[in-house]
Parts: sequence; structure tokens; C-alpha cells
Amino acid sequence: MNYDAIILGAGAAGLLAAATAGQAGARVLLLDHAEAAGKKILISGGGRCNFTNTGAGPGNYLSENPHFAKSALARYTQWDFLALVERHRIAWHEKTLGQLFCDGSARQIVTMLLDECARGGVEIRLSTPIGEIVHGDGMFRVAGATAPQLVLATGGPSIPKMGATGIAYDIARRFGLGIVPPRPALVPLTLGPDAQDLTGISGLSCPVTARVGTASFTEAALFTHRGLSGPAILQVSSYWTPGAPVTLTLVENAAERLRAARRKAPRARLRAALSEMLPNRLAEAMAARIGFGTELGNTSDAEIDRAAAALGGLTLFPTGTEGYAKAEVTAGGISTAGLSSRTMEATGVPGLYAIGEAVDVTGWLGGYNFQWAWSSARAAGEAI
Ligand code: FDA
Repeated sequence: MNYDAIILGAGAAGLLAAATAGQAGARVLLLDHAEAAGKKILISGGGRCNFTNTGAGPGNYLSENPHFAKSALARYTQWDFLALVERHRIAWHEKTLGQLFCDGSARQIVTMLLDECARGGVEIRLSTPIGEIVHGDGMFRVAGATAPQLVLATGGPSIPKMGATGIAYDIARRFGLGIVPPRPALVPLTLGPDAQDLTGISGLSCPVTARVGTASFTEAALFTHRGLSGPAILQVSSYWTPGAPVTLTLVENAAERLRAARRKAPRARLRAALSEMLPNRLAEAMAARIGFGTELGNTSDAEIDRAAAALGGLTLFPTGTEGYAKAEVTAGGISTAGLSSRTMEATGVPGLYAIGEAVDVTGWLGGYNFQWAWSSARAAGEAI
């Protein structure tokens, strides 16, 4: 069968690219090895899909080329996607930090995208392995179909048990595109035996400012039996490299607050003063870490400053991440150096496109990754 375009991957990006091209009149085949389309959308945002973010802009993305995402994000914005959601009468709400979720269920987003594909006459073939790709005479041949255009929308390898694979990288390499080494991102970090006191308080969550290098996020952190998780940690994990420290500000203006506590209750011990600033179990762990047991009234300024330094900048050296099994996204991927930022077409291989998570553009936590999927899908879908 002949088509104008074959799109590999019926996830967020593949579905919107197929609908866009189909509605513009292209004959589109959308292939996926999974038995259902949009499986990651279904589990996203705790089942309610955080489908975009009102603040989405190029500054919310990591890439070797921080300028690459600008054009696509500007031409199909969060407001454009929201308008589509509203046309389908899907009720939504804003949670925190500009994050938009469905009131009902993530399934509504999948249904919307499938309806849009149906309007564009897109042929969807599920449970279909990609197999060999033959390229010659300007045509791509895949799974018995032929087209002059092929779109890689198979995402990255995070959450392999859902059918995620790195096949986009293998195909891209074959066509001479570069790959920025992929790594798990938006992922919990693990701590070693030197942090047993912190892993011992697993289940505890508290607001922090987490820093890795110059990246810093003020949100909740969660102590787990393996290490650290929660939004602040997932955010900085995307910037973390093995061996680098993660710094947590547990208490703002700690020196001032400890001096005030010393004035107010000189007979109290550090543990008691900290329990006014931190959840109890964390206060206990930090008091033990800081390690002076005298009454605050007998504590020198230097000791107060040492305690404040630990509370204002607890420096931890993660031993690793929880890997692709737990990573919400994959950072790195198909290098943007070989792609047009306007159309997502490979500059050296006419007719070959790459979109979504497969590309080296990775968003923060909070709806930014779907917005990249939508924006890059639109750019390619309009170009087909
Ligand atoms: P996506 O992974 O969606 O689709 C790829 C498709 O390719 C899949 O259908 C897959 O089956 C198919 N495929 C893969 N390998 C194949 C092969 N070898 N042969 C054939 N088909 C193949 N983001 C966000 O913005 N807000 C949120 O709320 C969340 N929540 C969230 C929760 C969880 C648990 C995860 C794991 C991820 C998120 N994300 C998120 C991230 C978001 O899901 C992700 O960035 C997008 O789904 C990426 O869209 P793509 O279309 O690029 O890939």
C-alpha cells in the first residue's frame, strides 16, 4: 500500500502528527507495536494527564541546543493545545505552577487524539512490529507499506515494561543522525550507606530547594528507602551527572532562626528547635547529623553557623538513579544538529522526520514534555 507518510509510534507525538497531516489531506499510516494507542498518556499525571503548562517556553527544556525548541513551541503553543482540548469539551483545571490536568480522565485526551486522527482519515495499525526499513529511490518501505516520508515518533526507553524502546535511536543512527547519549530523567535518585539516617525516614515529604549545579527547584522532596524522590528531586535529576552533589535547602534563613530560638528558649536543645522548622523525624535526623547536644544557650555562634550551613545546604552525593524502570522521560536522544527546527525533518535525509521524546529535547516536570510532543508533532505534521 502507498501512503504520503508512515508514522512510527502512536503515542502523544505520533497521534497529533498523524491527525495534523491527515486533516491537511495526506494519506497517513500510523504504526505501533503496542495493542493500544497512547498508553503513556493513559498513565500520565496520575491518570488525569498533565497535558500542558501555562508557563511552557524554551527555558523549561534541556537540550544540547537550547534554541532548537523555540520555533516549534512558538508556532504551536500551550494555548493552541488548550483550544483543541476545549473544542472537544474536555473539562480541565489548573493545579499548581501552571500545570493543566483533565478533570475526568487521561483517556479523554487519547479519545480526542483518536477522533482527530479519524477526521484526518489516518489508518492506524496496532500490534504491528516495525521490522526492517528499506530506503531507496526516495521511498521508505516499512511493514508492507511504502511512503516518501517517514516520521520517528517512538519515544525513548523510559518505562520499558510499557513497551518503550530505543528503536528511534537505532533507526536514526542508520540514517546517519547523531545521538546525544540517552539517560533516565525525572527519576528518583539513590543514596548510599552514608545516608542511612535519611533513607531511614522513608515516606517523609517536606518542602525544599534542591540544587544541582546552577539548576534549582523549590518544591517537595520525598525521602524513600532507596534515596530521594518527589517533584524537587525529579526536576534536578534531569541535570544530575554521576559523581555530582545534590544540595538541599531544608530551612531558609537557618542562622537567623536558630539565633532567635536560642534567645527565646536557651534551655532547649537543637532537636527541639529543629522540630519547629522541620517534620519531626527529619528534625531528629538532622540534629543527630549536626551532632551537638548541649542546650542552645550554651551553643557558640560558630556552632550555630555550622548547624545553619547543614540546614541551608545539606550536600548529598547520590550513588545513581532508579534507572529507566522509574524514569518519567529519557533525556538526550536524536541530536537536533541534524534536524530542521522548523519542520523536524532530517537535513541530510529528505523525508525523514523525528519528533517527541525521541529527540534531544527534554522538558521539566509539569506538562512540559507533552507540550514538546504536541509542538514538534504539529511542526512535522504541517510539513508532511
Ligand atoms: P510515547 O512514549 O508517548 O509514544 C511512543 C510510542 O511508540 C508508544 O505508543 C510505543 O508503544 C511506540 N513504540 C516504542 N517502541 C516501538 C517499537 N519498537 N515498535 C513500534 N512501536 C514502538 N509528561 C507530561 O507532560 N505530563 C505528565 O503528566 C506526564 N506524566 C507521565 C507519567 C509517567 C508514568 C510517564 C512514564 C511519563 C509521563 N510524562 C508526562 C512524559 C510523557 O508521557 C512523554 O514525554 C510523552 O509520552 C512522549 O511522547 P512521545 O509520543 O514522544 O512518546
